[in-house]
Amino acid sequence: MWKRSLFLCHCLLLFIHSSDADVGTAAHYGPPFLPTACFGEEASEFPSSNMFGSAGEGIWDNGAACGRQYEVRCISAAAPRTCIAGQTIQIKIVDRALSSRSRPSSDATSMVLSATAFSAIANSSASLINIEFQQV
Ligand SMILES: *[C@@H]1O[C@H](CO)[C@@H](O)[C@H](O)[C@H]1NC(C)=O
Repeated sequence: MWKRSLFLCHCLLLFIHSSDADVGTAAHYGPPFLPTACFGEEASEFPSSNMFGSAGEGIWDNGAACGRQYEVRCISAAAPRTCIAGQTIQIKIVDRALSSRSRPSSDATSMVLSATAFSAIANSSASLINIEFQQV
């Protein structure tokens, strides 16, 4: 019995490690108001696609998150059919959510997405979604 549960545990760990993606939450905000915690007044650091976001404290990494790219997918939300099925976006971190000039639609999320990025993966009238995200 003991041996069997050990075996199950090991399988579970392997399963978890086989994917580098994390699960977390995302909110959205309106147009960013420069300066950002990452790039100051440097507007050229914003991707022209408007696919960007702010790092929550979990991924801020003392500023090392600046410029990192994440693949983000909506997995669920409070209201059914909020996620746009099959959509994955790639965003660039340009700010720290905690100190951002824009107010997020929800506090303390893993990241805050630009309106453009959020609406590409979910109904933009939602204020909070559950996401799967992975640095690329
Ligand atoms: C988005 O959500 C709102 C509020 O729940 C709903 O009224 C609207 O129909 C939804 N839009 C789409 C495209 O599903």
